[in-house]
Amino acid sequence: MILTKDEDIELIRQAGKLAGATLYAISKLVAPGVTTWEIDEHAEKLIRDAGAIPTFKGYRGFPNTVCISVNEEVVHGIPNKKKVLKEGDICSMDIGATIRRQLDGNKKFDFIGDTALTVPVGKITPRLEKLLHDTRQSLYDAIKACRPGATLDDLGGAIEDIAIANSYGLVRDYGGHGIGPDYHEDPFIFNYRTGSRVKLKPGMVIAVEPMFNLGGDRVKTKTDRWTVVTQDYKPSAHFEHSLLITEGEPEVLTLRPEEVIG
Ligand code: MF3
Ligand code: CO
Ligand code: CO
Repeated sequence: MILTKDEDIELIRQAGKLAGATLYAISKLVAPGVTTWEIDEHAEKLIRDAGAIPTFKGYRGFPNTVCISVNEEVVHGIPNKKKVLKEGDICSMDIGATIRRQLDGNKKFDFIGDTALTVPVGKITPRLEKLLHDTRQSLYDAIKACRPGATLDDLGGAIEDIAIANSYGLVRDYGGHGIGPDYHEDPFIFNYRTGSRVKLKPGMVIAVEPMFNLGGDRVKTKTDRWTVVTQDYKPSAHFEHSLLITEGEPEVLTLRPEEVIG
């Protein structure tokens, strides 16, 4: 989606800000003994209390507000009353917030913020700390490459370079995407070089979302038909921001309180 009108840009900013603030709030809830279900309930309340809609709930049949993926789970984990976080786990949370503008007749137009991060549960090993740090840094490097005229390969290349330098399994089956009124839209944004010469343009809204594994790059979907896990069951991290491409530096729509893109 390309946004040009100030009022539309204001609405996507609101959606992004709410998604970022909600993700920040639930990241503070993460602790040993907490269930992924409780985290999800809290996120849904925060989004609805703000007058917005949880983007994922019902999207292609996903049942909840947050995708919560623990340890070997890569993305799309389903919150569960029986899933209790424990010391030493890593917990990825991905959230979407929709601000709906009602147009004439029955028409509507949605503005969506999509963002994710992985946090430690209590104390984690130095190797896991580094996995989280490097995955986040690859997102930041990709964000810094998001200048108008840059190609999708500039973003994917920034991510791929960090994965290769540190021998992580780089997940290739999932990636970033354009964001539009129906959520996912073109272009698909690969987290590695593909030879793409598709260029970024001011007004584009995109989500960039690298996923790195401590083991191999292969993933599979569990029988619940949602949860994606690493084939070797080694842990995986995921960070995501929604961005508005501008004439200068990209605007990080889902920036969290206290977060600095470094
Ligand atoms: N949030 C994921 C993404 O970043 C997609 C989740 S789809 C859902 O693109 F249905 F699980 F919500
Ligand atoms: Co997401
Ligand atoms: Co996304």
